[in-house]
Amino acid sequence: MKPFYITTAIDYVNGSPHIGHAYEKVLADVIARFRRLMGDTVFFLTGTDEHGQKVQQSARKRGIEPQLLADEVSAEFRALLPRLGISNDDFIRTTEPRHKKVVRAILQQLHDQGDIYLGEYRGFYSTRQEQFLQDKDRNPDGSWPEIFGEVTEIVEPNYFFRLRAHQAWLVEHLAANPGFIFPHYRQKQVLEFLKEPLNDLCISRPRNRLEWGIPLPFDETYVTYVWFDALVNYYSAVADRPGLWPAAWHVIGKDILVPPHAVYWPIMLKAAGLPLPGGILVHGWWTTAGAKMSKSTGNALNPLDLVDEFGADAFRYFLIREMNVGQDSDFSREAFLVRYDGDLANDLGNLLNRVLNMTQRFAGGVVPAAPAGGDIEAEVRAGWEAARAAFLPLCEGFQFHTALERIFTFVKSINAYIERRAPWKLGKSADPADQETLRAALATMAEALRLCATALEPVMPSTATRIREALGLGARSGPWIDELAWGGRLAGSTVSASLVLFPRSVRK
Ligand code: MSP
Repeated sequence: MKPFYITTAIDYVNGSPHIGHAYEKVLADVIARFRRLMGDTVFFLTGTDEHGQKVQQSARKRGIEPQLLADEVSAEFRALLPRLGISNDDFIRTTEPRHKKVVRAILQQLHDQGDIYLGEYRGFYSTRQEQFLQDKDRNPDGSWPEIFGEVTEIVEPNYFFRLRAHQAWLVEHLAANPGFIFPHYRQKQVLEFLKEPLNDLCISRPRNRLEWGIPLPFDETYVTYVWFDALVNYYSAVADRPGLWPAAWHVIGKDILVPPHAVYWPIMLKAAGLPLPGGILVHGWWTTAGAKMSKSTGNALNPLDLVDEFGADAFRYFLIREMNVGQDSDFSREAFLVRYDGDLANDLGNLLNRVLNMTQRFAGGVVPAAPAGGDIEAEVRAGWEAARAAFLPLCEGFQFHTALERIFTFVKSINAYIERRAPWKLGKSADPADQETLRAALATMAEALRLCATALEPVMPSTATRIREALGLGARSGPWIDELAWGGRLAGSTVSASLVLFPRSVRK
């Protein structure tokens, strides 16, 4: 079976990681973990995008080499991963020799084939910012903002990649593969973009203006510019690992779909004779008070603050529960606390405590062998069957927020069942029938909790393990999917005395 290869975008090293970056890693990680649990061999790649004008400028301002700056910031992005519980298999940096080698080989091949040619690039250039400007950079009245200083139109020779030659092919590919871009409405946006004739892509900058890049193999007075360098990471990271390419999914944000990932990348691969990825999964933005969170607007929140305070799993839960993949979502500490105190501390944490306490109080800490129970036990079980039937297809279709909603609705229903059964009343009765019902109730609660913990594993891996351990279970022995079946697996298991999963927050 072909391995499931999944990637995230690689982050620019001109700023620190914020919640938007963390979300993308967590989303890809949930998919990677889910596929592993479903039995796939997974290869999960993330990394940093390190060349370009901005890095060169920031390094100059600090009087250091760009490589040093890139090393520093890349290390910061990398350090975030274990803190977020990310299970990546590799981390690629575009400054690594293994990457540069592949970029140069592909450039050479495309040049030899005639897909890259020398042309004339015309544009408005800001000497102060050392960059070409676009129409979107203009003030509403057409003038250029102050920060750009003097802006002049210049013409310079540069290398171009032929896009137009492959435009008709790309349109056909998209028509034949309606699932290529997820969510589907984004695919329509790409087709809309492709209605206009494509301009060939300028892929170089003269080295005397931009030094911090990969030199073109066929003309060392130039470096590659932005996308030809960055996109190739997905391939360069696995070029030496047979069987991994093509990727199953690229996970990216909506700002880099059209044109880079949906147009440049497929055409680059096609021209290079490489197979196309299975799909592009496009997520929306985390905003604060309605504005995109970004380093340049200064509204970026450090994900590690929340992880330090509440733990990685709570943070992962919030991101995945709150965001409908593809849409935007507003981040606030209040919204986080509502989920944390409500779903995690109250519903899930409480359920665990009740299971542990009552098993201690009424059964000496050992989960009873499950007697059949009555109608309301049957209802709990049917509730699980329904939740499970919905859960797996929702995860397969990247609807993790609804998948989690189903599980937490089930958690609530177990708590309601406990209220109804009132084991504390049954415990006081000497009637053997009540004692039998009590045993059924304890077995039912524990089994229902075990199933929830199992289902939560892709999103909250360490919480799942902690619950399993508290229930006296060792490492999983069989396939995950089998463990999602109701099975009274806990009979005879000795549970822990107590465990506080999510200490209630102190509101600031
Ligand atoms: N370096 C390029 C990507 C090259 S991929 C071959 C880049 N870097 S980035 O650091 O600006 O963004 C990295 C990823 O984070 C992108 O997918 C981007 O959409 C995502 N996010 C950045 N800010 C975001 C939010 N506020 N919310 C969610 N994700 C956003 O683009």
